[in-house]
Amino acid sequence: MSELSEKILKYLLHIDEVNTLDLAAAFKEDHQKIVGALKSIQANGELVTAEQISENKLEVSGEGKSIIQNGSYEANIFNNIPDDGIAQADLMKIPNAKIGFSKAMSAGWVLVDKSGNTPLVKKKVSEITDAVQLNLKLIDSGAGGDISNKEKQEYKKRKLIQEVVIKSFLLKKGPEFSLELKKLETDLTTDMLLAGSWKDLKFKEYNFDALGVPPECGYLHPLLKVRSEFRQIFLEMGFSEMPTNNYIENSFWNFDALFQPQQHPARDAHDTFFISNPKISNKFPQEYLKRVQTVHSIGGYGSDGYGYDWRIEEAQKNLLRTHTTAVSARMLYQIAQQESFTPTKLFSIDKVFRNETLDATHLAEFHQVEGVIADYNLTLGDLIGVFTEFFKKLGITELEFKPAYNPYTEPSMEIFCFHPGLEKWIEIGNSGIFRPEMLLPMGLPEDVCVLAWGLSLERPTMIKYGFNNIRDLVGPKVDIDMVQKSPICRLDKSAKK
Ligand code: PHE
Repeated sequence: MSELSEKILKYLLHIDEVNTLDLAAAFKEDHQKIVGALKSIQANGELVTAEQISENKLEVSGEGKSIIQNGSYEANIFNNIPDDGIAQADLMKIPNAKIGFSKAMSAGWVLVDKSGNTPLVKKKVSEITDAVQLNLKLIDSGAGGDISNKEKQEYKKRKLIQEVVIKSFLLKKGPEFSLELKKLETDLTTDMLLAGSWKDLKFKEYNFDALGVPPECGYLHPLLKVRSEFRQIFLEMGFSEMPTNNYIENSFWNFDALFQPQQHPARDAHDTFFISNPKISNKFPQEYLKRVQTVHSIGGYGSDGYGYDWRIEEAQKNLLRTHTTAVSARMLYQIAQQESFTPTKLFSIDKVFRNETLDATHLAEFHQVEGVIADYNLTLGDLIGVFTEFFKKLGITELEFKPAYNPYTEPSMEIFCFHPGLEKWIEIGNSGIFRPEMLLPMGLPEDVCVLAWGLSLERPTMIKYGFNNIRDLVGPKVDIDMVQKSPICRLDKSAKK
């Protein structure tokens, strides 16, 4: 047991009761330390009884303390005035002159003589008492009882004092009072059991209120929490994950393979981040590349193409992928190289990059959630059916579709859902059926249809976690505390049709 605990018990031996604040004063110890020592006494049984007492007390603020040292601002004003007065402008140079001057004026200590060229401040009385300083001294020493409420109110308003609640304990001898403490056992050992000594020993009580030690570990960012929910949904629906570990892509897979013409504005540096080193890619499946060139420039597979001069140099340019559909294109090409086609369902959730103007809802990098289904004879009805199922698992049941345009899908649909919280229809994704101009050059059978859709991960995360500004979610301004405290994400997978 600590020395301080013993000292407290000894002190109690000859008196009936004592307040811990008085003990702190008597022992010249910090009150917190006395309370700590009391807790360890209490852990040893009912040696003392402790009744908690809350008391309101006035405390002198930092500013108040400096007035105790240096005098009030009004007294300083008065004391800085020579007997024949001082130019007001000069007087106002001393610290806190403005407030001091106005207080000195209303106390009737000083006057302004405007008869000359410049206003002069003169003493109006020959001497003053700095009541503010004296009263603050009294309050600070705990002897402010006689100070009027009006004055106290004023000091509070001037933030020279503040009311604080002081918690202390009134101590009395308890039923098990003793000067000595048996050390309480914390563990029941084999030896104690064998020797039977446990019968006479005192055991420390469990403290069920003790806080656990916070685990030293990393925390998942909300985006990652929502990502794992999306992943779960795809897995439940029988999708496999595509490898997306290449942020750097070339224009061929990002655009050309997707039948996006080389003049398309998205292929502009205003929209896409091109890579300067290495600037170009050289490895392409040559025969496929030729077929892509043909379908762009002169058409084929029942299409007229775009009728322009397709250039390899444009396709070679490296960039930060602007969509994960580049990955889907690579995967579909691979599938087309298999001996026989097997229907496949694929998904990916990863980063993409666009040269966007940054604002509250747009960043230059974000995550895309992408789904791809390749099978024989699929229709738009299948696409809508899959969406109904997919979004139902996200807790979204009201969907609307709007015709849209993508170079690589026909038909294309924007997906809207009704947001009950925001009470409006919001766009959540883009989708379509991949064009034959994209699929047939890859070598996929003619009757294979590929449905695909994409959405951002940030948007549902912002809605789910209630963020209005994307910078609160991603980037240097993110509050790490938010990351630690954000709850796990549960998308309502049980929503009824
Ligand atoms: N790639 C599209 C986008 O970036 C999304 C999409 C994927 C559209 C698949 C249709 C099909 O917005």
